[in-house]
Amino acid sequence: MEKSNRFLTVSQVPQPLLDWYHKNARALPWRENTDPYRVWVSEIMLQQTRVAAVIPYFLRFMEQLPTVEALAAASEKQLLKLWEGLGYYSRARNLQKTAKIICSEYGGIFPERYENILSLPGIGPYTAGAIASISFGQPTPAVDGNVLRVISRLVDWDADLSGTTEKKQVAELLAAIYPEGQCGAFTQALMELGAIICIPGANPKCMECPLQYICSACESGTQSAFPVTAQKKPRKKEEKTVFLLRCKDKIALHRRLPGGLLSGLWEFPNTEGHLDSIAAKAWLTEQGLSVHTLAKRTPKKHIFTHIEWHMRCYYAECENENSDFVWVTEQALLEEFSLPTAFRKFMPAL
Ligand code: ADE
Ligand code: SF4
Repeated sequence: MEKSNRFLTVSQVPQPLLDWYHKNARALPWRENTDPYRVWVSEIMLQQTRVAAVIPYFLRFMEQLPTVEALAAASEKQLLKLWEGLGYYSRARNLQKTAKIICSEYGGIFPERYENILSLPGIGPYTAGAIASISFGQPTPAVDGNVLRVISRLVDWDADLSGTTEKKQVAELLAAIYPEGQCGAFTQALMELGAIICIPGANPKCMECPLQYICSACESGTQSAFPVTAQKKPRKKEEKTVFLLRCKDKIALHRRLPGGLLSGLWEFPNTEGHLDSIAAKAWLTEQGLSVHTLAKRTPKKHIFTHIEWHMRCYYAECENENSDFVWVTEQALLEEFSLPTAFRKFMPAL
């Protein structure tokens, strides 16, 4: 579709989409009000994590840390515990960095200007656009995967939209048609349509879509071709051997080094490669541990964005504790230590 026609099509979106949204929006906890703190925390959680999974995390977070001040003052331990299982832990650390900046530089009040919001740690154009439109009523689009899919299908936009420049073009097109007085609802309506009607794959629910009569992809039956994205590199596979070590009522944990994947979080002791039971015993001896039983447990796989871990696992009962690991009770492990999902998968094997 020609660029001028794109504008003509997109300019017909707001009215029918807003009417649809006001009738069909899901009641989600972060939609109860437009407090920028709530909008911000929810949008950060919703990056990389599904709505249904986010809801309990969001409610617990708001209960324990209801304000920017509370977040700024939280301990790292509490913060990571609240985030445990959501993944991408740098998001939690950036939340707190930003909360501290809002307290020290903005008197604890969320900045309203798009540029100021965008300058905060962990906040990119998407999140800044969402906060400025939803909380402050500004015509600032928030272009996420949902919005890209809706717009590219509507106007038959067949360039690769995975890069920053192209996302910016989509944002500029949308900024020109943001409806005055309804900016927040419009941002959410675009996301909502992508989440529940204009869903990925070959079968979006075009029959229920308020934009069907202006949609190019629907007319030509090419919905599954949009959005166009470049082929991603395959993920790197890494082999590991994980040890569930028990000494009386204590379990061994290890703190991951700063920098890199899951930096600073806790893990079960582990090493590179798939060890057979002889090599596993030798590794335990190297760690200064005497073992009286060693048993293989079900292997597990964990998928990160760019890496897959293929984890073999051994359970061992030890005669002594060593000083390289931290030995904690199962209850302390559950209540006080944030163990990422990749390792939490082994809990039933303890
Ligand atoms: N996905 C990203 N942001 C969202 C929001 N505010 N509501 C529902 N789904 C979302
Ligand atoms: Fe998406 Fe279909 Fe609606 Fe077009 S008509 S915007 S493809 S759901």
